[in-house]
Formats: sequence, structure tokens, C-alpha cells
Amino acid sequence: MKVLLLGSNGQLGSAILNKLKKECKVISPSKKSLNFLDPDTARKINKINFDYLINCVALQNLDFAEKNPLLTFKINTDFVLKLSKICKKKNAVFVHFSTDYVYKSKRKLNRETDKIKPLNIYALSKENAEKKIKSNHKKFFIFRIASLFGIKPPSGKKDNFIDSIIKKANKNEKLKIVNNQFMSPTSAKLVAEVIEKLIKKKISKYGIYNLASDGKCSWYEFANKILKIVGIKNKIIPVKYNQLKLKIKRPLNTSLDISKVKRNFKINIKKWDYYLQDYLKEKKYVK
Ligand SMILES: NC(=O)c1ccc[n+]([C@@H]2O[C@H](COP(=O)([O-])OP(=O)(O)OC[C@H]3O[C@@H](n4cnc5c(N)ncnc54)[C@H](OP(=O)(O)O)[C@@H]3O)[C@@H](O)[C@H]2O)c1
Repeated sequence: MKVLLLGSNGQLGSAILNKLKKECKVISPSKKSLNFLDPDTARKINKINFDYLINCVALQNLDFAEKNPLLTFKINTDFVLKLSKICKKKNAVFVHFSTDYVYKSKRKLNRETDKIKPLNIYALSKENAEKKIKSNHKKFFIFRIASLFGIKPPSGKKDNFIDSIIKKANKNEKLKIVNNQFMSPTSAKLVAEVIEKLIKKKISKYGIYNLASDGKCSWYEFANKILKIVGIKNKIIPVKYNQLKLKIKRPLNTSLDISKVKRNFKINIKKWDYYLQDYLKEKKYVK
């Protein structure tokens, strides 16, 4: 199987590359060689032979997206449609990642069939991409993933949430974390395992899937668990979302119901603290 992986320098792309390179032929060009903003990029991709195209490229800085909507839509939506069209022409499978931020429900775990309501430009650009992919080519997988953490931090950042909490707590910094915003933490390693299975088993149950670890937690609960596992004593101060006075709206509950992916991929997904523990071990915070 030949795989074209875009965005392999990022948090998720690097985890997928790490997993797939042992199993199949992966072409993983850099942003420099295939920039989505370069008018020649679609033509270059057309010339590559592949059975699967995995797109991990995205512009996902909320502030930047809000200030630069045109650029955000170019990368997160318009070019994604181009990729989907290339896949259709080649009869290749298109694997794309969307976000838990398309949801806005207040209480329960969000299901793929629930009504969606993007609250900011980033989420809107991702939701638009979902619609375009769906109406263009039937061989697609869109995984709505959530608060991601991987060995490599998000592109352009020094740390992910976990590393940043540990660093601050070690310096005895005062930590204020929101306790009424809920999500399902997603390990990049888990996502990579699902993608590996998708290719190895040639899974053809195309469509939109939620993908995260099992269960949900607030950011406050997540931060407390991190410090508890690592053994740092630092009292985190719980704050309400409204107290943060954020300029850009975020949904209050993006926790995900993952029963569809578990069923269709016949995969066993564990609770979020299992993947957190695994990450902390891999990063050598704990033995
Ligand atoms: N992070 C999260 O919590 C989260 C949550 C939900 C969904 N997601 C989705 O998951 C996917 C992966 O996220 P991530 O955290 O791995 O992102 P990331 O670390 O920011 O990686 C983004 C990748 O896109 C590349 N890129 C950016 N602009 C580009 C351009 N103009 N042309 C070509 N490549 C470009 C970057 O290249 P360079 O590194 O070379 O700049 C990098 O490889 C995205 O679709 C995102 O929307 C993420």
C-alpha cells in the first residue's frame, strides 16, 4: 500500500508517520516542498502515486484563524476539497481530520449524528471541509478528534498542555484551570493505531467518526490527574469558563461518544487516563 502523508511534521502527522513507516511505503513531503498555498501544489500531488492520502495539515491557531479567515479557509477548506478531488480521480481513499469544536452540546457525549454548530472561524473552516469532502468522493474517512497530545508538540509550539502544566507546576507557578469545560483527551498514538488498522485491514466503512480516548473530563480534572500521576504537589485553582474572558468562543462540552469507531473498526479504546499514563511514561516523567 502506498500512502501519501501530508503534515508529517506536526503533532499528529509525526505520530502517524512513526507508526506507518514500519508497515507500508509512506511518502511524507514537507511543507516546504508541498505548501497548500502554493499554486503548483495540487499539480505536484496529482503526479504522485498513492492508495491512501492522509491529511494532517491544518491551520489551528484560533486567534490567527479569527484574524485571517481567508487564509484559514484556503488551507482548512479549499485545499482540502482539492485533495478530495485528486483522491476521487485516482480512486484513492482520503483520510482527513476534523475537530470536536464542531459540536456545542452542553451535557452529554456528542455523537456523529448530532446537530453541529461551529462557534469560531477555525471550527467553521473544518466543518465546511467536512461538507465538501462528503459531497465529493465516497471513499473518505473524517475523524473528529479532540484535545490532542503527542510526543511532538503542535507545530510551532514548544509544549503541549501536559508538558506546560508540568513545567509550570515544577516552577511553583499559580495554575488556574477551567472546570466547567469538558472534552475527551486524544492521544496521537491512539489515532495512529486506528489509521494503521484502517490501512492494514483495508477497512471500507467510510464516513465521519469521532475518535478520542474513552470518557470525558474537564481541563481541571485533566490537569489534576497529570500532577497526581507525576507526583507534583501544586494546588490548582478551578475557574469558570466565563472568568477567562476569552475573545474567541469555544464550546463548553466537546466530549465524544466513540462507539461508532469502536464498533466499525473492532478496536478496543481505553479510558483517557490510560493514554495519559502511557504518554507520561514515554516522556519519562514516570517509570
Ligand atoms: N491539536 C488539537 O488539539 C486538535 C484537536 C482537534 C482536531 N485537530 C486536528 O488534527 C489535525 C492535526 O493537528 P496537529 O495538532 O497535528 O497540527 P499541527 O501540529 O499544527 O500540524 C500541522 C501540520 O500542518 C503543516 N502546515 C501548516 N500550514 C501548511 C501549509 N500552508 N502547507 C502545508 N503544510 C502546512 C505544518 O507544517 P510545519 O510543521 O512544517 O509548519 C504541520 O506539519 C488537524 O486537522 C487539526 O485540525 C487537532
